Amino acid sequence: MTVRTRKQTVFRIIALTILFLIFWFVRQNVLITSTLHVKHKDKQSLDFELDLSSLGANSKQTRRNIIIVSHGRSGSTITGDMFNHHPSVFYLHEPLQTVERISQFQKERKTSPDDPDYGSLMSEVLNGIFRCNFSRAVVEDLEHFYRHPSHPRASHAIASPPLCPYEINDSRWDPSLCPPLTSGSLGKVCRDNYKMTVAKILISRITGASIKHILESCSSAKVDCKIIFLVRDPRAVIASSRSVNFFKDSVRDVSRANFRAYSFTNCKQTEENLALVKSLSFRWRKRVMIQRYEDFAMDPLTGLSRLFDFAGLSVPEDVKTWLDKTTHPSSDHEELRSACRGYHPAFCTVDESTVAVNRWRWKVPLIDIDIMERYCKDLMQIMGYRPVDRSHELLSNISIPLFKKDYQVKGWF
Ligand SMILES: *[C@@H]1O[C@H](CO)[C@@H](O)[C@H](O)[C@H]1NC(C)=O
Ligand SMILES: *[C@@H]1O[C@H](CO)[C@@H](O)[C@H](O)[C@H]1NC(C)=O
Ligand SMILES: *[C@@H]1O[C@H](CO)[C@@H](O)[C@H](O)[C@H]1NC(C)=O
Repeated sequence: MTVRTRKQTVFRIIALTILFLIFWFVRQNVLITSTLHVKHKDKQSLDFELDLSSLGANSKQTRRNIIIVSHGRSGSTITGDMFNHHPSVFYLHEPLQTVERISQFQKERKTSPDDPDYGSLMSEVLNGIFRCNFSRAVVEDLEHFYRHPSHPRASHAIASPPLCPYEINDSRWDPSLCPPLTSGSLGKVCRDNYKMTVAKILISRITGASIKHILESCSSAKVDCKIIFLVRDPRAVIASSRSVNFFKDSVRDVSRANFRAYSFTNCKQTEENLALVKSLSFRWRKRVMIQRYEDFAMDPLTGLSRLFDFAGLSVPEDVKTWLDKTTHPSSDHEELRSACRGYHPAFCTVDESTVAVNRWRWKVPLIDIDIMERYCKDLMQIMGYRPVDRSHELLSNISIPLFKKDYQVKGWF
């Protein structure tokens, strides 16, 4: 062999190997993602895992999940409840409360989402839930929570046949007749009777307050996830959080240190999660939907269609009827009160939604609004919330909306 032909042979072998590798990579559907993200080290690993998980998205065994993420007091209960009313949805109300309770039981003390073991417990529990795999500890907690007399309808799926003898709308329905849940019964019903799982999760219960850890819990092969990130005007969120004692300032503290700290943290967490969503590759960003609470509240039926469409669900007539009643209750206060009788207030969402959007404007003092606008300036700007900027006229004139139709985040999708 001459040097020249040897060189040619080596060249051919290399070329063939490269061709084969390219072919193999394309087949594995990873070429695009791995080249796209070479420059962003941090993001690359997250995106890479996520793309791997969505590879299984077409497989029959892949379980579909929708996770509604938001701060408390942002309309997440009603958003979750819309899904709870859908006959194809296995709904879980705040499974991270379960994680919190299991964690506290194990440690025999109050724990925080930033405790060392909480994160791994959270991932384990969520990953199980996302595959309809419920461990014994989880089942015991769910049994306790969903059979509790103050919120027996928190999950329609768990309150209906075959897990209970009668349909919720049946006059014979009585949660005390439901047999105890088991890993077997719950897993089978979740898998066989419902095509998707929907869970509502509050940001304050997530490790690091980051959606990233939710996405990571979705990254196993048999799991497909989409996220609905619900954002509400922080002035409404923070003021409402104070009114239900999520935090408190002593009357002597004129500087309102806790109010300031809460405003800062709440808005920073939302901002950081939005930044994370923005940094995802388009392919994954498509699996996230940002829903502004105000847009939903001003037109709930359109909001419903938009959310169900994103989830890949039909929009049943009875869900529309229920939503219309819930968000536009008759002026008959007796009817309103009877709808909530016997329930924990957190589960009663009956309210005139167009009024709810503006309620904070006549309940919160201008001086407090000024503080929130200072700490939440950037978030408000990208989400289209208009500052009142110490203007009493602007604050009190309800005919002027304080959220704009178009805003920066809307352009990301
Ligand atoms: C459910 O999870 C447990 C423990 O995490 C595991 O041992 C088991 O194999 C899982 N079952 C299924 C059907 O995935
Ligand atoms: C209860 O709800 C189911 C499903 O929505 C419906 O088919 C049925 O007619 C209802 N029954 C009663 C008694 O309202
Ligand atoms: C409220 O704002 C509207 C629109 O800018 C204006 O026409 C109206 O006069 C204002 N009402 C009051 C009471 O200032």
